[in-house]
Amino acid sequence: MGNTAIIGLQWGDEGKGKIVDFLADKFDAVVRFQGGHNAGHTIKVGDKTYKLSLLPSGIIRGKFSVIGSGVVVDPIALFSEIKKIEEAGIKIESEKLAIAENACLILSVHRELDQLLESKKGEKKIGTTGRGIGPAYEDRAGRRAVRICDLMDDKILTERLENLLFYHNLLRKSLGAEIVTIQQIIAELEPVRARLLTHAKPAFEIAKKLNSFANVMFEGAQGALLDVTYGTYPFVTSSNTMAGQIALGSCLGVADLHKTIGILKAYTTRVGSGPFPTELECEIGNFLRIEGKEVGTVTGRDRRCGWFDAVLVRQSIQLSSVKEVALTKLDVLDKLEKIKICVGYKIGDKTFDYLPQANHLWDQIEPIYEEMEGWQESSFGAKTLAELPQKARNYVKRIEDLCSIKASIISTGPKREETIIL
Ligand code: IMP
Repeated sequence: MGNTAIIGLQWGDEGKGKIVDFLADKFDAVVRFQGGHNAGHTIKVGDKTYKLSLLPSGIIRGKFSVIGSGVVVDPIALFSEIKKIEEAGIKIESEKLAIAENACLILSVHRELDQLLESKKGEKKIGTTGRGIGPAYEDRAGRRAVRICDLMDDKILTERLENLLFYHNLLRKSLGAEIVTIQQIIAELEPVRARLLTHAKPAFEIAKKLNSFANVMFEGAQGALLDVTYGTYPFVTSSNTMAGQIALGSCLGVADLHKTIGILKAYTTRVGSGPFPTELECEIGNFLRIEGKEVGTVTGRDRRCGWFDAVLVRQSIQLSSVKEVALTKLDVLDKLEKIKICVGYKIGDKTFDYLPQANHLWDQIEPIYEEMEGWQESSFGAKTLAELPQKARNYVKRIEDLCSIKASIISTGPKREETIIL
């Protein structure tokens, strides 16, 4: 396979967990390179279901797993996730899980600030996962974050926390929240500090180890449309979610990425606020939500649902140099009589083949749709293209043509074996 990135091409929740797990056997190592425990990956192996937020999915298959320098790490959440996975019978030793020592920490003050700011914004809120991701990345850019390596020395840790809490306490006072002391944060970290350090490795050492393997998988979290630079800003997450981020967040460099596979859901969903041109606030949207079990893994929120939007997907493919895609959840559309695909936008008297970044235009977008016949037969669990109803094949082909891309995998159910390889 060579070193391959797997990234979502919509607003996250495209079913990356299954595809990453499905392909994991072909890789020697799996690396997370951005985001934090805002991600939610559900993996079904036999009759067991694993829910991961921060751990790379490869951990379930015993692969060498890395939490790279571009990730923000909530150590308490990490060890509670590790505990659950270990209770399910998978041991996570320090030789199996390496965490870049320069990764920045998410602390309770980040989570609290995330939630406080969201609660003050009312209608204008982003709809974050409330896990402190945004404030942690802000502190990283503001040069006041605490990194994992800062936990190695009491004096440095105290200095870093002084700096961080000076800023947070100023904000907290203005928001009417209680002041936080250095001792409080140190007490929070104490139960996990020693074990976290057993996993901490210099990025250089991690790079050497990863370079000793022929096939490394870079596991994306969220989706391309949530990218802080190219996504639907400001309704985005705070990290770069596109493949380019691998060069800065995985411990490996730009030439070490050989191919990017994009994950596409056969329709569109998003959680949180922000533009969604093909959203269906009607019976069909409800049908997709129920049929697709569209409830957030992390937050338990209902996902907003809509038709497949080729405009947005083409953009994501272009901006991340995606060369092939895996199409997921095709079976969710099985019962529909008619299916629409958005092929362009009309704004006023102009047509657009991309989503303009200018926020004032978003309310005026009228999607231009093509309508296709639904197949109204089961595609669930199909393992070969021949097992797919002809009209379902037509739908896949139309998506390929509109997005100028080939599907190399079609997923027809949550289990590993419910997959078509092309
Ligand atoms: P944050 O990443 O918690 O700051 O949330 C920012 C936006 O990204 C919100 O709309 C979240 O719902 C969305 N988001 C964050 N992580 C995920 C994910 O893993 N899947 C889908 N949406 C996500």
